[in-house]
Amino acid sequence: MLWEYLIFGGVAFLMTGVRCEVTEVFVEAGSQAVLPCESSPPSASAAAILWTKANVGTVWRKEKSGLQYWGYGWAKQGTSRIQCPYDEFGRGDYSLHISDVREEDGGDYTCRVDDGKQRVRKVVTLRVITVSVSPSVAVPGGDVSISCDVTPWPMGATLRWRLNGNPFVPQNEIKEVSIPDRGVTKSVMEGKVTERLTGDWTCVVNDQKKESLATKHLSVKGIINPSSDNTKVYAAVGSAVTLPCVFSPGLTPYNPVWERLSAGSLSPSTARSLPPSFRLSSRRLLDSSVSVGEVGSEDGGRYRCSGTVKGYRLSTSLQLVVAKIESNVHSVKKAPATLTCHLSDPSEVTEYEWVHVTYDLNGTESTRSVQKGNVLRIDKVAGDSSGEWVCRFYGEKGILGNVTYHVPLMSGLTGAKEAGLSDNTAMVIGLSFLLLVLLLVVAQMYKNHQRRKRIFQFPALETIVHTISNEREERERNRVKNEDSV
Ligand SMILES: *[C@@H]1O[C@H](CO)[C@@H](O)[C@H](O)[C@H]1NC(C)=O
Ligand SMILES: *[C@@H]1O[C@H](CO)[C@@H](O)[C@H](O)[C@H]1NC(C)=O
Repeated sequence: MLWEYLIFGGVAFLMTGVRCEVTEVFVEAGSQAVLPCESSPPSASAAAILWTKANVGTVWRKEKSGLQYWGYGWAKQGTSRIQCPYDEFGRGDYSLHISDVREEDGGDYTCRVDDGKQRVRKVVTLRVITVSVSPSVAVPGGDVSISCDVTPWPMGATLRWRLNGNPFVPQNEIKEVSIPDRGVTKSVMEGKVTERLTGDWTCVVNDQKKESLATKHLSVKGIINPSSDNTKVYAAVGSAVTLPCVFSPGLTPYNPVWERLSAGSLSPSTARSLPPSFRLSSRRLLDSSVSVGEVGSEDGGRYRCSGTVKGYRLSTSLQLVVAKIESNVHSVKKAPATLTCHLSDPSEVTEYEWVHVTYDLNGTESTRSVQKGNVLRIDKVAGDSSGEWVCRFYGEKGILGNVTYHVPLMSGLTGAKEAGLSDNTAMVIGLSFLLLVLLLVVAQMYKNHQRRKRIFQFPALETIVHTISNEREERERNRVKNEDSV
């Protein structure tokens, strides 16, 4: 009898012990949940472990022999969202890890460990916080609904909202609607989309003990490409490029317009029309992208695409960054040639790389990275400097683009030499011309001198010629006088 009471008492103690062991785990949907289950002291020998979920059954089981079983629905095609890390077993930690937690994973889980000497039973309640934003890319003026749900709902918990980290105070555009659900009230915000509502919506769940968060992003946009304002588009001079402007499906932009913006300005008064080489690239309604067949070096700058949707003027601006290579191969005689990689806006470039591209007789391309930095110096006259020199430029997220400089065959630095030669030729031609002119002048002077000498040989003749001309002048003068008097 006493024995039975002892057992009953022990069981009752265990039961109360179990009740105290209920652990609450709050987790944001999509993240990883860790359901704790520890036995102390750690068992010396292999233990049998069983994880079950209330109303579902076995989640995961391991026998003493090491054999594992997954419950139905928890292992799909060899990969499983659940895991019990073996390397922790030695420390008595049999926690269950659930990755990519879903709303339906919420509920009560029980862990049972039996190592032959001690038995452990723990209950863990997993509560999944789900924030949903619908639609996640909203159109200005359109309806939006943001809701926060916790599955299963924690009695006595409270919900608050933060927008971009700050407590959110609803104004006219959006209001909190109470939706009675399973006897509790969850938080749903409903209203019309404005710019103010864009950003990260965080649902703050306050349990008695702690605060748990879940966040979703709401972007208000009618233009899906480019995805953010002031996106940079890189293009080499002479290459083709497309400036994207694509509206969200379901929107029909009215009066889409492209403009070129003056540097540092967004005001429409300073906008100019596009260069004539820019053409609308598609006839589709949602796509107002323009393409440029051959980018000119002066095309770099800021552009804006806009269109009216549901009474809102939507716009996006982007920047065309033009890349070119400036060379001094032909201007400096016998000096090292330099190629400079020049971008109209290098602010996002973190690194330049020069690559030498050559083609063998079969036309097979081979590339060789030569150096870093935006200036390439080639010091030696080398026949292999011909081919293509490509300047690749990188940003923080990887390659942004490249630009190619073609060195003609048998040129490169030999090009510099040729340039020097032709300089010499010009000088020789110039000098010869000067000499020729000098010779002509000297010849003329000599001729004049000879003539004068000949005239002085006949002084009388000179007098006669002189008298004759004087007489003719006198006669002429008299004739003019007579005509005047008549
Ligand atoms: C060109 O191609 C032929 C056969 O395709 C090959 O045997 C030869 O080695 C190649 N030459 C070079 C320079 O790659
Ligand atoms: C330069 O960019 C073009 C287009 O992105 C690419 O096809 C080409 O391989 C690049 N050239 C080099 C040498 O990186």
